[in-house]
Amino acid sequence: MTGVSQQPAPLASFKKIRSMKILVATEKPFAPAAVEQIREVTEAAGHELVLLEKYSDASELHAAVADADALIVRSDKVTASVVEAAKNLKIVVRAGAGYDNLDLDACTAKGVVAMNTPGQNSNAVAELVFQMMLYNARNGFKGKAGTELRGKSIGIHAFGWVGKNVARIARGFEMNLFGFDPFADESEMRDAGVEPCGSAEELYSKCQYISLHIPANEKTVKSVNRQLLMSMPAGATLVNTARKEVIDEDGLVDVMKERDDFSYLSDIAPDNRALLEENFPGRFIFTDKKMGAQTKEANINAGVAAARQIADFFATGNEQYRVN
Ligand code: 3PG
Repeated sequence: MTGVSQQPAPLASFKKIRSMKILVATEKPFAPAAVEQIREVTEAAGHELVLLEKYSDASELHAAVADADALIVRSDKVTASVVEAAKNLKIVVRAGAGYDNLDLDACTAKGVVAMNTPGQNSNAVAELVFQMMLYNARNGFKGKAGTELRGKSIGIHAFGWVGKNVARIARGFEMNLFGFDPFADESEMRDAGVEPCGSAEELYSKCQYISLHIPANEKTVKSVNRQLLMSMPAGATLVNTARKEVIDEDGLVDVMKERDDFSYLSDIAPDNRALLEENFPGRFIFTDKKMGAQTKEANINAGVAAARQIADFFATGNEQYRVN
C-alpha cells in the first residue's frame, strides 16, 4: 500500500514575509506537545501564534478570530458568521480529514482559502476502530467468553487514508477484508489485501464487521440505513469512526429491535443515545467526545501540517490541500 501520511514542506522552504496572526481555535485542545511544535513552526516562519482552547461559546471564537490572518481548527464549526467576523482572514485549515465543519461557500464568497490535512491523523482513528472492536468482542472484559477477530469478515466502507490503515491492521488480525469505494482504485485495494465489492449492498451483505470511513455530505447523510444493516451476517457489528450524520438513526433503532445480534460502536454518540442505551443495553460503545484523532502523535502530525501549510501558503502561495 502507499504511505500513511503526507510529507509536509520542509521548514527551510519558507521565505520571510510580513508577520501574520495565526489563531489556533480548538474546543477540544491539541496535546501540549503539538501546540509547542505548532508554535515552533509558526514562529520560525515569522508569524504570531494565538491560542483559544476549550471555549464554550461561539462568541469567544468570533472575538478571537476578529483580527486573525489564518485559522487552525479541529471539529470547531467555522460558520458563515465566524467567517464574517474574521475581517482579515485569508486561510483556514482544518487540522484533520473531514471538513464538514467548514462553511466552504462562506469561505469562497469571502476569498478565504480552506484546506484540510489529509492522512495526518488516520493511524490514530484506525487504531480506535480495533480498540472498540476488541473491547466489544470480549464483552467489555467482564468475565464472559467473547469472540476473536481472526477469520471474521470486515467491510471497509471507503478506502481513503483511514480505510487503508484499517486494512493494514485488519491483515495483522488475519481477518477477511472487503471494501467498497466508488472513487478508489480497485488494484490498490487488491494490493492491500482487500477484495473490492461493486456496491454498498454487496459489502454489507458479506461482512460481519463494517467500518465506516465515508465523509458526511449531501449524498451520504442517513445513507447507512435499515436495509443495509439488516443484510449483514450474524453477529453484525457496525463501527463508526466517521460521522454520526451518515447513520439513519431511526433505521438503526429498527435494526436493534429486530436483531439481538447487532452491535453499534461509535466514536461520538448518536442523537438518540438515551433511547438506544435504555432499550438495548450492552450493545453499544459511545465515546463522549470524538476520540479517534485524540492522540499526541495525531495532534502533532495534523497540527504541524496545518501550521506548515499556512506558512507555506503565505510564503509561496501554495494551495495544495485546498478544498474550496
Ligand atoms: C477528522 O475528520 O480528522 C476526525 O474526525 C478528527 O476530528 P477531531 O480533530 O475533531 O478530533
